[in-house]
Amino acid sequence: MAQQEDVFKKIVSHCKEYGFVFPSSDIYDGLGAVYDYGQNGVEMKNNIKKYWWESMVQMHENIVGLDAAIFMHPTTWKASGHVDAFNDPLIDNRDSKKRYRADVLIEDQIAKYDEKIEKEVEKARKRFKESFDEAQYRSTSPKVQELQEKRDNLHRRYQEVMNAPGGIDLEGMKQIILDEEIVCPISGTRNWTDVRQFNLMFKTEIGAAAEGSSTIYLRPETAQGIFVNYLNVQKTGRMKLPFGIAQIGKAFRNEIVARQFIFRMREFEQMEMQFFVKPGTELQWFETWKQTRMKWHQNLGFGAENYRFHDHDKLAHYANAATDIEFHMPFGFKEVEGIHSRTNFDLSQHAKYSGKKIEYFDPDTNESYTPYVIETSIGVDRMFLSVLCHAYEEQLLPDGQTRTVLHLPAALAPVKLAIFPLTKKDGLPEKAQEIFNDLRFYFNCKYEEKDQIGKRYRRMDAIGCPYCITVDQQTLEDNTVTLRDRDTMEQTRVVISELQQIVDEKVTITSLLKKLA
Ligand code: GAP
Repeated sequence: MAQQEDVFKKIVSHCKEYGFVFPSSDIYDGLGAVYDYGQNGVEMKNNIKKYWWESMVQMHENIVGLDAAIFMHPTTWKASGHVDAFNDPLIDNRDSKKRYRADVLIEDQIAKYDEKIEKEVEKARKRFKESFDEAQYRSTSPKVQELQEKRDNLHRRYQEVMNAPGGIDLEGMKQIILDEEIVCPISGTRNWTDVRQFNLMFKTEIGAAAEGSSTIYLRPETAQGIFVNYLNVQKTGRMKLPFGIAQIGKAFRNEIVARQFIFRMREFEQMEMQFFVKPGTELQWFETWKQTRMKWHQNLGFGAENYRFHDHDKLAHYANAATDIEFHMPFGFKEVEGIHSRTNFDLSQHAKYSGKKIEYFDPDTNESYTPYVIETSIGVDRMFLSVLCHAYEEQLLPDGQTRTVLHLPAALAPVKLAIFPLTKKDGLPEKAQEIFNDLRFYFNCKYEEKDQIGKRYRRMDAIGCPYCITVDQQTLEDNTVTLRDRDTMEQTRVVISELQQIVDEKVTITSLLKKLA
């Protein structure tokens, strides 16, 4: 576990060192849970978005795109339920004046019990060596059993307060924190306030005060922009059910616990698609979208064992099925995408609050009804993090040296091809520039002549550039260059005129889409 945490720390510093992700307003020491994407990060993020957009919109005749505004009429959020129920349970420590999510404090306590149990097991494994029977040890060790009982008891109480009939039992939560003697990590004291609900939406004012300003929210999800445009798109696009509306855009949540780098941010980006279907067919479509989305993830070649579905046992009142696609991050399996069957809740709510009839006239049955919705919702930043975590490797080479390499899928890599003259003389830079000027029309290329060739290769490995070509003396004689593969480090000689086609087949989003089909 500690080893995985170390790897994660290295990934975070690699992101900064190589221009992928910087803390926001870095010169002012950053802003909590807000990040900027650097020169390589923005390219990779754009590639992820392109892969999603083209697979969803371009490859589906019945899905169209949308780009709704971030600011929306405030009633939107009343109708959607966000004003009343988009809350986290918070608790303050009076001594440190620090604020925590009460549920996270309890979850951390459960994790502490788990860690202690694992430590005991590992100690015993070392002590008994080959003769160690883990199952028997777990069921007979008094220490492990005592810890397990405390952990299970806490977990049971936690489930009870979270699922209390009238909503989360806030008093019960505080009692658990007191009973477990959980202390504030800063002050070390148990001087806690009561637990309160805290709304996660950011508020701001629209209009100058003099003309009567009003409070509006920064959207906490892009989905509502799609729901309020359902009629516009259906009518102007002459869309027939089933059909989908897809959107990529920023969302904002005033997350209290900001941890794990870009996994949980206050400003982040979502790629959401709402698929409108005939009532009664929604669970079939839910299954279809579950499989379609999982295929999209696995198409990147990270191995099926790194993904799993986490079906929700407890459903939101408006949903009749929900699952998460989780990815194996260095800090465990974590949600990257949610797929929800949201019934007709959102459209019905907007119909009620706007007074507009939001329905579909079905020409096949001559009836009107409110469509049901299957939603697929994936965070761009979490996707970005999962790609980076899987790609990062500190590789020990046969000659005893190490290299840090990002094994990014070529189609997502920020730079596709690096072009190097072997030396800075004998006309090699001019020839290399000529190739660069030709190929930059097709993909993101980088020209570099500084430092030894080995150092230049390493820099490209560190940003996941899948191919490097080197122009040498032989190039001037026979118009060939060496083409180096990032992963195998093998070099082959290829004719310059064939370069574009060779590289193109591997690095474009089209190559990914074809595999998906
Ligand atoms: N419209 C449904 C919706 O927003 P969600 O589960 O709250 O559902 C969907 O969010 C996805 O958005 C998550 O699976 C995650 O990838 C991403 N996401 C949510 N909150 C996030 C945050 N604070 N930082 C980064 N990504 C986040």
